[in-house]
Amino acid sequence: MTDPTNQAAAGPATSDHPAQHSPADPDPGPAGATGSNVSRDSLELFTRSWQAYRHVVDLDLMEHRALTAALETLLLQRGGGAPLGWMADLGCGDLGLLAPILRRLPLAGLIGVDAAAAVLPLAAARMEGSPFPCQWVSADLLAWSEARRDQRVADPHAPGAEPLSLVSCLFALHHLDDAHKRRVLEALRPCLAADGCLLVADVFRADGEDRPTYIQRYLQRVASQWQELPAAERQLVGDHLSASDFPAEREAFRQLAAAAGWRSRWLWNGSHGAEALLLLEPSR
Ligand SMILES: C[S@@+](CC[C@H](N)C(=O)[O-])C[C@H]1O[C@@H](n2cnc3c(N)ncnc32)[C@H](O)[C@@H]1O
Repeated sequence: MTDPTNQAAAGPATSDHPAQHSPADPDPGPAGATGSNVSRDSLELFTRSWQAYRHVVDLDLMEHRALTAALETLLLQRGGGAPLGWMADLGCGDLGLLAPILRRLPLAGLIGVDAAAAVLPLAAARMEGSPFPCQWVSADLLAWSEARRDQRVADPHAPGAEPLSLVSCLFALHHLDDAHKRRVLEALRPCLAADGCLLVADVFRADGEDRPTYIQRYLQRVASQWQELPAAERQLVGDHLSASDFPAEREAFRQLAAAAGWRSRWLWNGSHGAEALLLLEPSR
């Protein structure tokens, strides 16, 4: 991994090339200007030890294969007709899951947003030679969503304020508490085209399950079923999820979304009662 000295940013640093913080946009520290709970600790797995997450994906321990198949079906359906506008992937990481699918979509362009600046060059490499332009933004996803919303409200015709055809957020929202998840859902709603959609793949708590019970359940799963992952990486994953994972309850999340102007339906549910994919479309 590259040295992750630039980990969390509240204000976007945008570039067609992988971004680092601009001098005018200093690292705001763990709380960030928006109060989002993106922190150096929570990003540790994705910067210093990105390789551990790649192993989890490659070993299919979180059922990324089935999830990707569901995502592919939906995205290719959306991309099967007229050309699409811009897409944003929030918490894009290295785009390992999405890059092969996105390349096949008739997008006007792609914006990859991640608080961990060190992963953006990996995402850029995966999209190298794509038929549409890509922008890489080192920013907190909540700060980026609210800034985009504000830009659209101020001048919907300004460059950079175009309605988005697609927004995806895969395994990133659970790092925010529910109040901040709600703000993301509220901010994104006016950013979408009327026929656009938001895809959220994430871990969720069962209805009525509290966070300690969920964390315990997931730790047991890691200990008993993730033996293929080296012990040091299992430890890292366990430490990370104990400290930094705040999954929403399934139905509570749909209610948050409904209040923010989205109708939603589950497109895929993993077999462990945690991972799931939700499709959200504007309801008004
Ligand atoms: C589990 S990885 C998922 C990466 C990718 N979406 C995937 O599914 O392979 C979570 C990603 O979200 C990013 N992330 C976490 N909290 C974030 C925040 N508040 N704003 C932006 N990115 C965030 C991390 O840096 C990391 O790259």
